[in-house]
This record gives sequence, C-alpha cells and structure tokens, in this order.
Amino acid sequence: MAVHEFDGIIIGAGGAGLMAALQASKSAKIAVLSKLYPTRSHTGTAQGGIGAALGNLEEDHWEWHMFDTIKGGDYLVDQDAAEIMCREAVDTVYELEHMGLPFSRTPDGKIAQRPFGGHTREFGKAPVQRSCYAADRTGHMILQTLYQQCIKQGVTFFNEFHVVDLLVQDGVVCGAVAIEIATGELYTFHAKAVLFATGGSGRMYKITSNALTLTGDGMAVVYRRGIPLEDMEFFQFHPTGIYKMGILITEAARGEGGILRNNSGERFMERYAATLKDLAPRDMVSRAIYKEIREGRGIGGKDYVHLDLTHLDSKVIHAKLPDITDFVETYMGIDPVKSPIPIQPTAHYAMGGIPTNSDAEVVIDEKNTAMPGLYAAGECACVSVHGANRLGTNSLVDIIVFGRRGGKALGRFVQQAPLQPLPPDSEKATRDRIERLFESRGSESVARIREKLQAEMMDKASVFRTEGELKKMLDILRGLRQRYSNVCLQDRGRKFNMELLEAFELDHLLELSQVTVTSAMARQESRGAHAREDFPKRDDAKWLKHTLAYRDEELVSLKYKPVSITKFQPQERKY
Ligand code: FUM
Repeated sequence: MAVHEFDGIIIGAGGAGLMAALQASKSAKIAVLSKLYPTRSHTGTAQGGIGAALGNLEEDHWEWHMFDTIKGGDYLVDQDAAEIMCREAVDTVYELEHMGLPFSRTPDGKIAQRPFGGHTREFGKAPVQRSCYAADRTGHMILQTLYQQCIKQGVTFFNEFHVVDLLVQDGVVCGAVAIEIATGELYTFHAKAVLFATGGSGRMYKITSNALTLTGDGMAVVYRRGIPLEDMEFFQFHPTGIYKMGILITEAARGEGGILRNNSGERFMERYAATLKDLAPRDMVSRAIYKEIREGRGIGGKDYVHLDLTHLDSKVIHAKLPDITDFVETYMGIDPVKSPIPIQPTAHYAMGGIPTNSDAEVVIDEKNTAMPGLYAAGECACVSVHGANRLGTNSLVDIIVFGRRGGKALGRFVQQAPLQPLPPDSEKATRDRIERLFESRGSESVARIREKLQAEMMDKASVFRTEGELKKMLDILRGLRQRYSNVCLQDRGRKFNMELLEAFELDHLLELSQVTVTSAMARQESRGAHAREDFPKRDDAKWLKHTLAYRDEELVSLKYKPVSITKFQPQERKY
C-alpha cells in the first residue's frame, strides 16, 4: 500500500480548490489532488464575470448584492452566509486583481463591470453593472491566475489522481483514497483534514453546459460515507445553451444588450418580467423559454428560441464576447453579428451539495454540527448562498470567497489537530469496487446506461416536474441500478483505463440522481429552479426549509433544517 502523508489534502483544482490551497499552504503541508490537469478544471469555462459591488461604473452596495442574491434564490438562501459572500466579494476581486488577473478595463483603467441577470440597484429598481469581467473568459483567467500563484507558492499537486473514497476513523476524517489514472495504482493520502472542491454533477442531464468530468464525485464520495447532501432538488438550467449541444452562451450576451426572441420575432421576456426583461433570473427565463416552446412559439415550431445579438455593434461583440462568437461559428456555422443564435436551456449548476457552514466546515445534521477535519467549497458544497436559484456571476464569487475561508479554516485546524491513525486496510473498499467491475461478465455497458440516465433525467426531472414523472424516474433509476450491477468492462488494462473511471463516475451520477429526484418528489411546492406543475406556488409555511438527504442503504431518507433569515423577510418574487 502506497501512503502519502500531508497535514491537509484538497480534492479538486478549480477556483475553490486552488484558492483554498493558496491559503492553507501558507501554514501547513498541503497537497492538491485532481482527476484533471488543474488548468482543465471547469472553472475555466465560466464566462461572463464575477459579481462584486465595486461601483466602478455606477453606484452599488454589497447590501444590494445581498438582497438580489436572496431574492434570486427565492428566499431559501442562508442570509448570514450571503452577507459574508457579498461583503467579501469586493476585497476578493481586488485580491485577484493584485495577483495579476487581466480584467477588462473601463476607459479610466478601473475593472470593467456589466449587468447580469437578477443583479439590481436599490433593491430591484433596475439592472446594475456589477459583473467584473475579463471579456467572456473570466473563469479561465481566474483559474490561470490562481494556478500560477499556487506554483509560485510551491503547492504540491497530484494531477490525474481520481479520488474515490474518503477515510474516516471514529467519526474523524483521516484521508482519502485515489486511483492514479496513468498506472491504475491505488494511493492512500493520510491527512488531518480534507477539503472537497470537486464541482458539480451536470452530467446527469442530456443537455448540459458541464464538461464530461462533472459527475459529482466529491458529493457522492461523502454521501456514501453517511454525510448528508443538502437541497439537491434545486438544479439550475441556464437559459442559453447552444441548441442540442448545451454549450454555454454567456448571460453576458444579454448583459451587453442581447435579446431573446420567439418565432414571430417578439421580445417575449417583456411579458414575463416587465422590469428586468431578458435579465430576469435564470429560473424564470428558462421557464419562459419552455413556455414559449410548449405554446408553439419556438422557432419554426421547434424546441428552441433565438438569442439575437444582430443589433449590437460588431466591435462590442468581438471585444467583449469573443469566445462565444467563436463557439457559435465553430459549432453552428453562424456569425452572431449577422444571424440570431438558436438556444435552449441547458443544465448548468447544482445549487445543492455537501452542507457547510461559512468556514466551509462540513455540517452533518439539522443542528449544523461540524464534522472534524472535513471541508467543502464551491459547487460541490452548499453553504447555502444560492438557495433555490443561483444568480449569474455568484458561482465565481462563491468559489473565491468560501475557497479562501475554507483554506484558512483548514490551515488553522491542522495546526492543533492530531493525525488520526488510518483505518485497517484503508484501500479495501475501493479495491473491492474495482475488482467487482473487472470480474463482472454481464452484458451492460457504462455508455448505454449513462445515455438512458441522461435522457430520462432531462425528460422527467429538469425545468418542470410533476409527482407522476418523478415517480417514474425513481422506477427508472432502480432499473438502471440493476443494470449497473451487470456492467462489463471492455478494457481490462490498468493503465489509463478511462472505462473504469467512467464506471465510477456513472455510479456517482446514479446515486446523485436518486437524491435529486427523491428530494424533488418530497418538496410539494415551486421555488426557484424547482418548478412543480402540480404545486405551482411557493409555500413558505410548509417549505421554507432546507432538505438534508441521507443514504439509507439503497434508499434516501430526508430530514429538514431551518433557513437563516437575518435582514430580508420573504416577499413575492416579481421582476
Ligand atoms: O452566463 C454565464 O456567463 C455564466 C455565469 C455563471 O454561471 O455564473
């Protein structure tokens, strides 16, 4: 058994993981493990910007940002956490600037800012320019900047190490087990603390903006160790994915003046959100698009609408939206300067995840009891600053603010915590899982089960939901689980066995889909991204509470915990 020993390990090398590593490695021996090369992490695909009330182009305040975040999240946001995020966003963006992040600039040299969905001035009066951006490559720039800083600081990286188990001894975290992708060897990482920053699980859906690697590994690994997942019924569909492909077309396109149009060329968002129109929050815009399509106003009667940029100055498009221009030309053969872009909502972001407090410590029950040595930050975590629907730009704020806080907290923890002994044969559970897969001689393939899962989740558990469809989905999941036990790997080698890794990833997606659907079936109301056609209204009396989903052998058992409400009482959500 090969064992590496560190004070702390950070799993995932996107923005949250790298920010945590930068902080924690100032005072402790830290390793970052990633199943990818770090600069291929999904943070790199975030396009339109990072929200912070800098007020560079017009008056803005962190309290306005906080209000928008809470209202955008349909009041399921923990307001103490939202306050921390919106206050600290300002300093964190300047910290990134000082690290060398090449933000776009105003003519007088300040960080440029633009409007984004649901971000307003004076508590909802009109859109505000709050999104700090680097053209439409903001996430890419954040990732490169943080990675350079980590290298400069001498952070240790284990690239292409896929973590598949968390080690816990007597209720205390003591490390993780990873497969080295190049060799297929198992490694135990023995540590006083572990921070998960493994991103989301959008690959449970057929149409998604998420990379192939977004299979919810971190969430599934901790869930299998008895830790609950919070608010997993809330999955965001971004309104503008490239038709049939799901590739993201940034909301910044609408921030720069782009307009959504139906088959008759109508700017239909005027009917759904009279004040913010195309810049309403994503849950509302995605539902509006589906409604237009269902009522026969999709383009040519089909299941898409247009994002129209043709009225914008071509210089603005090329300077501020170069990447999406390139994507649309490459994948659709369309020049967005001349023709509208066919778009449909695309699975984008898990609002739920591993429950944490505002220091990124993982909490395991309704009383928010922290599990010693376990941390999570970024999309795999639920702190919860996004509630039932995240505002655009707030994912980058989340990863940076809570990645930083988590890294600091972990750094403090390992100074005083003893290193727990490893459990006996720490790799046994993983070795057994691998051998079961290699020994199986069934007739099923990973790819076929995954394809069925993604198509059915898209059909039955996406933007609109009903009890009947969710029940059918649970039956389908039971069947897929059965089929999974008959998976036969074609590749029997150990080196770079991507089929083996995909089998682990599919296992994780099946697990998380079951949690999402079970949590969605229980929640008999509509709130944010969770739109139940059989319960179309928000019901604060019964449902202003967070879901906690626990693994109960093959089933999911649900508990609930209160939402933290400090400054803003729930109101009707009008835009
Ligand atoms: O539309 C976008 O650029 C996506 C941003 C986000 O998800 O925050």
